[in-house]
This record gives sequence, C-alpha cells and structure tokens, in this order.
Amino acid sequence: MCGITGYIGYRDAYPIIINGLQRLEYRGYDSAGVVLYDGKQINLSKTKGKVSDLLNKFDAEDAKKGNVGIGHTRWATHGVPNDVNSHPHTSQSGDLVIVHNGIIENYDTIKKELINRGYTFHSDTDTEVLINLIEEVKKNNNVKLGKAVQIALNEVVGAFAIAVFDIEKPDEIVVAKLGSPIAIGIGKDNTEFFIASDASPFLEYTKDAIYLEDEEMAIIKVGRAIEIRKINDDSVVTANVQELQMNLEQIEKGGYDHFMLKEIHEQPRAITDTFRGRLLKDEAIIKMAGIEDNMKRFLNAERILIVACGTSWHAGLVAEYIFEEFARIPVEVEYASEFRYRNPIITEKDIVIAISQSGETADTLAAIKMAKSKGAFVFGVCNVVGSSISRESDAGAYTHAGPEIGVASTKAFTTQITVLTLIALRLARAKGTMSSSDFRMYLHEMELIPNKVEKLLEIDSKVEEIARKYLLSTNFLYLGRGFNFPVALEGALKLKEISYIHAEGYPAAEMKHGPIALIDDRMPVVVIATNKGHYDKVVSNIQEIKSRQGKIIAIVTEGDTVVKEIADHVIEIPDTEEALTPLLTTIPLQLLSYYIAVMRDCNVDQPRNLAKSVTVE
Ligand code: M6R
Repeated sequence: MCGITGYIGYRDAYPIIINGLQRLEYRGYDSAGVVLYDGKQINLSKTKGKVSDLLNKFDAEDAKKGNVGIGHTRWATHGVPNDVNSHPHTSQSGDLVIVHNGIIENYDTIKKELINRGYTFHSDTDTEVLINLIEEVKKNNNVKLGKAVQIALNEVVGAFAIAVFDIEKPDEIVVAKLGSPIAIGIGKDNTEFFIASDASPFLEYTKDAIYLEDEEMAIIKVGRAIEIRKINDDSVVTANVQELQMNLEQIEKGGYDHFMLKEIHEQPRAITDTFRGRLLKDEAIIKMAGIEDNMKRFLNAERILIVACGTSWHAGLVAEYIFEEFARIPVEVEYASEFRYRNPIITEKDIVIAISQSGETADTLAAIKMAKSKGAFVFGVCNVVGSSISRESDAGAYTHAGPEIGVASTKAFTTQITVLTLIALRLARAKGTMSSSDFRMYLHEMELIPNKVEKLLEIDSKVEEIARKYLLSTNFLYLGRGFNFPVALEGALKLKEISYIHAEGYPAAEMKHGPIALIDDRMPVVVIATNKGHYDKVVSNIQEIKSRQGKIIAIVTEGDTVVKEIADHVIEIPDTEEALTPLLTTIPLQLLSYYIAVMRDCNVDQPRNLAKSVTVE
C-alpha cells in the first residue's frame, strides 16, 4: 500500500504535504514524491527512499512554492523502488499529474494500446499507464478532467485511490476510490481542502472529513462544495461529512523514541478502552451490541471460522483456545490468503470472524466477501473505524486501541485478544457452558489485567539487559503451550520483522519432533512457562534445552522457584487465570524484540520491505 496526500487552498501546500507524507509513511516508505503548482508551472520532485531523502531535493525555496499539490509515499508493487518509478507521474503532454495507491491489473493491455497510439513510457508502473489513459480519454472525448477520470476508471480493473490534477485547471483536484482508502478534509467555507489516505495529515487544520466509499469519485474545487459521484453510473452522492474523533496526540510519539515503544506502553489504556462500557463487573454482564443483536445466530452456529493474517491470525489462534474452552463452539483458524483461494466448505450455520487491525488487508477482505457469498454470517473485529472490513461485515466489534503506527503490531494484538475474550465469555454465559461464579471471577480478573500490564512494563530495563546479551544471535526459538503457543508464534514474528533475526515459534512439545536438533550453546530459546496448564511438561522441555546447552529465557509467573533454577534468564509476569495469560506473556516478548532491534540499529517503526497494512495480494 502507499500513502497519498494533497492540498488545494490558500496556504503553502509544501509543508502540509511533506508533514502529511511523514505521518503516512507507515503505509510504505521505499520512495516519495511531491508535485506543486506555483501559479505558472509545476515543480515535481521524487526520489527512491524516505520522505527525509525527498527533503534534500528542495534546496531551492522556489521549488516549495504553490497552493496546490499532491504527494506520495510508496510501497512498490509494479516496478522496483527507484526515482523513475516513484510517484507523482505525469502524462505524456506533461499536463496531467497523478498519485496512486493500489494496483491496475489490466495495465499491460492498456499500455500496449497506448503504445500503438504513440505513447511512450518512462517507468515500469501501472500508474503511468493510468494517467496516460486519462489523457487519451480527455483528448478523444474533449471532456473535462473529472469526466475523463471517470471514463478511464471504468476501463480499468483493479484497486485504486487516486488524486489527479491538470495544470490547465489548477484550482481543481479529482480523487477517486475503489478498494484503497481516501479521506478529504474540508476547510472553513470550502476555502481549502486536504486529501489523504487517512485523516492524520490534516488533523491540525480541520475536523470535518469525508471518507469516500468504493466506486466514488470527488471533484474538489476551492470555494465550492465537493461534488461526489458514482464512478460507474454517474449518479450524484450526498456527501457524508463526519467529525473526526482522532486527535494529534494519538499520532505523535509523545516523548518515546519510537511509535512501537509508545504503543507497547499504551496497552494498559488500550485494553481498558476496549472493555469500557462492555465489561460491567458490578452488574456481572458483558454488553456488546454486535453480539446481542445476533445472539440467535451465535447460539445456533455449528462452527466459527476465524480468518486473518499475521499478528491478527495469532490473535485468532488464541481465540480458538478461548472459544472452545469457554463457549464450547468448534473453531477453525485460517490464513485469509489460503482460505480465499481454496474451496472451503462454508454453510449458513457458520460464523466467520475476520480479525484485522487496519480493516484493509486485501486477503482478509477477499476472504470475507467469499464467505458472505456462500451464506456465512461475517463478524469483523477491526481497530480502524469505518475501514473496509468493518463495513463489509454483517456485524462487528471494534478494538479501541487507537491509531497503531509502528509497523509491528503490539496494542492491536492485545486488544484483539481482549475483544475476543469478551465475546467468548458472553457466549459462554448465554450457552450455559460457564457457571455464573466462574463468569464473575473472569470479569474480575479481566478488569485487573491493565494494572498487571502496567506493572509488567516496569521490567523494561531488565528486558533491555537480556536483549544486550543476545543481540548478535542469528536464530531464536520461541516455545509455548496451550493458550501461549500462539504467543510464541507472535514473539517470533515480532523479532523477525523488526530485527531481521531468524526466529521460529513452536508448541513446546513439538520441539522433540525436529527443532531440538537446532539447539546448541548459541541458540537462545524463549520459553513461556507460566504456572498453570502444562507447567510440568514445559519444565521438562526446559530441561531438554538445558541438557543441550541452549540459552533459556523463561517467562514465568511471579514467585516461580523451579524454572529459576534452570533458566539463564527469568522474566516474571503477575499471576492471572491461564486463559488470560497471553495478555501478559506477550508484553516481555514485544519489549525483547524492540530492544534487540534498537541495539542492532534497525528501523523499528519502518522495517525493511514491510508496510503497515497489506492492501495488495
Ligand atoms: O491490519 P491487519 O491486522 O489485517 O494486518 C495483518 C498483518 O499484515 C499484520 O498483523 C502484520 O503481520 C504485522 N506487521 C505484524 O506485526
């Protein structure tokens, strides 16, 4: 995915676009570019690299002039990251300029036709094809930019969020959306407009925003109300202006070195926000509208299918254990990318739960569309309000984690587990699979979790010390059992993605079926050995590692004395119910990966080759 910004109005567009791109860099950061119109001509600067690299191209003050412009930060799909493939792209005549997020699937066919008509291409991108198609349509039909964009978009197959302007009519920007998000900020009395992939670039200027829906386009002209139309049938759409709830503080680092560390430390608040108004301990109830309104369906469900990717898939695995334990409903957890392409057996008695922080992950979105077409009821668990997955779902529950900007998911994971645990508890009561005293006990324990996370975060410096010892390791093994097996997977994923160290997560008992061969005195093994469940068995696994000189970093319950004797390092978590331990055991693993990555001088918030949400296949 990529980030798009734009501005048209009375202010200098340059700082608005550059700051906006920096806020959107979580969406992609392999190249960046800006085009500004200064009243006479356009100034286009683009480069491979980050927005900070782009700044070097603006030594001349003149290049920063203009009250209209668009910008882009890229995560490459078509064409390697280099200066030429970076956006914005101009049309052959040089009159039209575009930034694009998404993929034009039939670009090759269109490109060949355009070449036959005399067009030449400089980049390998599908975006350059699109802007030339718009130019060709505009010329041939003698229409204005808006109409040309509309006709051209009806010829393309794929996904897009675009912003286009024509230097012949620089008081207007045309935007359109299908599959990739786009928000428009509205200045007072329509004197200025802001365009962005999410609202963060314009929070300090306006709280009034329109989120375009799929297959909509907007013609944005200073001094005039926005005109929104359907791309396919030209019908006029009434603008739905929303008041933004986000504030600047939420999207700034707030004194932390990295967003990831800030987001790790935000977890006590995020978990509390996620159960606020839902977990009512005094009344001994859990209230969730999305569940209450569809209780019959949940009670009649023969099976729950969970679809997700990455960290969200790990949260789904934790949920599998919790749903089966509490509510006795069979659960299957699927990688959305696999699920969508096989021919799964889905019936109207199935409930599909889609988990996604961004709510925009292409594979998860496609998986739920497919499940819906087969009659399943889809329940979305998303963090981003109004995201595609939340809109496509039949019902859902938001995690209230707040914006997660670090590419490595942290508070999204713990809040997903929180929501899923609340659902499992609610269903358990409704089905009668949990006694009322156990239910009350869980509500009580859940409510204590934020304070326990807070306390756990105090071990920060201890984890840092451990990180220093293993920062040069080339492999790590993570082991856990039961509810904590998915946490082992999540710990390994965190380390891989931000420190580039190879790491594997395994169910502890599987170690002897292969991975044990890897263990020698250079192999750090992180073992989750809390005092419940399969504690004795995990202790035996630890002994097996010890006998082979592996280095053991154990996550134990406070007061543990057995593992302390064997392990090289011990990190204690506060005691809680076994099913709730993932909310605690995951915290030291997040910190461990964070500190190792920082010490290895890795870009923690923007790890190489990744993007915050994967809106392409
Ligand atoms: O936005 P989603 O939760 O759908 O994203 C799914 C994965 O792309 C995401 O969890 C990814 O694995 C993270 N980078 C992990 O930290």
